[in-house]
Amino acid sequence: MNNPRNVIVTGATSGVGLALIPLLKEKGYQPILTGRNAEKVQNYAAEQQVPGYVLDVSDTGSIPSVIEEIEKENGPIFGLINNAGIWLEGEFATNKPEDIHDVVNCNMMGTMMATHAVLPDLAERGTGFIFNVVSTGALYTRKNISVYAASKWAIRGFTGCLEAEYAPKGVRVMGFYPGKISSEMYTTAGVPRDLEIAMTPHQAAEMIIMMITHENMVWSHVSGRSLSDYV
Ligand SMILES: NC(=O)c1ccc[n+]([C@@H]2O[C@H](COP(=O)([O-])OP(=O)(O)OC[C@H]3O[C@@H](n4cnc5c(N)ncnc54)[C@H](OP(=O)(O)O)[C@@H]3O)[C@@H](O)[C@H]2O)c1
Repeated sequence: MNNPRNVIVTGATSGVGLALIPLLKEKGYQPILTGRNAEKVQNYAAEQQVPGYVLDVSDTGSIPSVIEEIEKENGPIFGLINNAGIWLEGEFATNKPEDIHDVVNCNMMGTMMATHAVLPDLAERGTGFIFNVVSTGALYTRKNISVYAASKWAIRGFTGCLEAEYAPKGVRVMGFYPGKISSEMYTTAGVPRDLEIAMTPHQAAEMIIMMITHENMVWSHVSGRSLSDYV
């Protein structure tokens, strides 16, 4: 039997990440649910009947060993969805240094180092994908979101560069740039937000699934290019 197409989802204990799990399953992928909170990981993995692992992407030193454990127990990784993310807003001078570090560590370094841990094997096999959940915050600038925007702008650049670097090797690197989603993100950050016109986590997850399942296409900035365009 062929290996299952294992897809690691970071930050899958809430919102978009959690909504992705059943949709990935429906499409024949084997989702690997990961998150920073052990109890939530255990509960949601059991509920969704998928493998679950504690992976705090801010703790970048721990990422390679967790990825190794996942591969050892489940087989090769087919895809990585860098979804874990946290919000911070307010005038920059009033942002606490520790909060600035947390946002950059999670949104930027977590995405880069999780990618770094899986990409060599994907490139060697010449297949699979890296999918970065970015944000419209990486497409424009406005006041009071400088740190979150910086972390996401960094990933916009990272995604575009890796797309060009790895498409010729058969690995798709894609970015998704949603606007407001009615998830836990703002509540977790202690920020009130009117989410009446936001898309739901399920709707965002459906868009991601659409992008992932077109396996000959690369979607960056939500515009599809064929993998063969790079060769
Ligand atoms: N909500 C929006 O309006 C919006 C708009 C554009 C883009 N996005 C992006 O969409 C992605 C998903 O966010 P969401 O809206 O679904 O928010 P969410 O409901 O808060 O989900 C975020 C998930 O990331 C997890 N997480 C946070 N820090 C982590 C860490 N260090 N290591 C591993 N997991 C961590 C959270 O864990 P816990 O369950 O333990 O909290 C949660 O499961 C994020 O990258 C976010 O920036 C969101």
